[in-house]
Amino acid sequence: MTTRRLVLTRSAAVIGAASTGLLLPEIVRAQSNKVRVGFMLPYTGTFAPLGVAIENAFRMALDEQGGKLGGREIEWFKVDDESEPSKGVENASRLVQRDKVDVLVGTVHSGVQMGIQKVARDSGVLSLIPNAGVHAATRALCAPNVFRTSFSNSQPTRALGKVMVDKGHKKAVWITWKYAAGDEAFEGFKESYTAAGGTIVKELGLPFPNVEFQALLTEIAALKPDAVACFFAGGGAAKFIKDYAAAGLKGKIPLYGSGFLTEGVLDAAGPAADGIYTTLHYSDSLDTARNKAFRLAYAKTFKLQPDVYAVQGYDTGLLMIQGANAVKGDLSNKKALYAAMESAVIDSPRGKWSMSKQHNPVQDIYLRVVENKENKVVGVAAKALADSGAGCRMA
Ligand code: PHB
Repeated sequence: MTTRRLVLTRSAAVIGAASTGLLLPEIVRAQSNKVRVGFMLPYTGTFAPLGVAIENAFRMALDEQGGKLGGREIEWFKVDDESEPSKGVENASRLVQRDKVDVLVGTVHSGVQMGIQKVARDSGVLSLIPNAGVHAATRALCAPNVFRTSFSNSQPTRALGKVMVDKGHKKAVWITWKYAAGDEAFEGFKESYTAAGGTIVKELGLPFPNVEFQALLTEIAALKPDAVACFFAGGGAAKFIKDYAAAGLKGKIPLYGSGFLTEGVLDAAGPAADGIYTTLHYSDSLDTARNKAFRLAYAKTFKLQPDVYAVQGYDTGLLMIQGANAVKGDLSNKKALYAAMESAVIDSPRGKWSMSKQHNPVQDIYLRVVENKENKVVGVAAKALADSGAGCRMA
């Protein structure tokens, strides 16, 4: 498809239909021939800062390379998904049907992602997942047009269990928000902790995005496990860390987590976060030129410290750039576009990573510890870790 032919064809159609007064938006779109990028992210609620970080860094990646995709200008669209699963299909459809986006970038919440996944599979629109780790997206419901640049929910915690047992914690309590992200993070934790010889004495949970932790913390105190492991993120994670310390558990029962627990919350959590060990595919303190340059540029541009969500948004931009460049901006050349994305190696602030066959990152998982409002790298807890991709059949 050449730009020129598209414009002429559409123009002819419009002349034919001029008397009806219809199709004006069509012609405007054809003539502008911009790539239409739609963000579906949380801009309100406990995950709002995560959505903002993803959008910021996605835009930064593109700006660093001239602000275009495959030589074409970009037109932006945005929907606040509110981390509300019941509105997932409707919100994704709005971007795809009404705004006619060429690529949908979203989202954070696993439940909302299931709505996007349905719309992506039904419409064939290119869908880039900059956070939500829901297994189905790159397992049973995988699709050629869906690529994840973040993690699968069990990836970070698959590296956590052995760390805890190695530190002598044989009996643990697990606590999380009860929805796909927490339940699937538990899957990874359970597998790694029990394989290393640990016993999970109790699973505790509360509905997302509830932050009334008090009764559960009282239960943990009574259970007296060797350690606690958890999945929380965003505003809820900051509150959990503070409530854990306020309940008198800090210093008595060590707290561990999938690393989202301590991402983007260290200012809010303050000293209550010190000493928390977590596993994740990123750490602020990775001592590489790539990470330092990224952190400096992000902090300068947005007057904010970047976190894992910013890294994921940035990498989503890098992946989109690689794909668009490979087809010189012709995103309708899907075969070549997807092939380029599948074989992409992303030179990320987290370290280089590649795509699995099921379109999920194959990446290192770091062990980190919070010290003075920073996630310090302790080591690599799992090297080049891939999700199983179980049940994925690409159409
Ligand atoms: C998810 O719902 O998949 C999710 C949300 C926030 C995170 C990680 C996973 O930090």
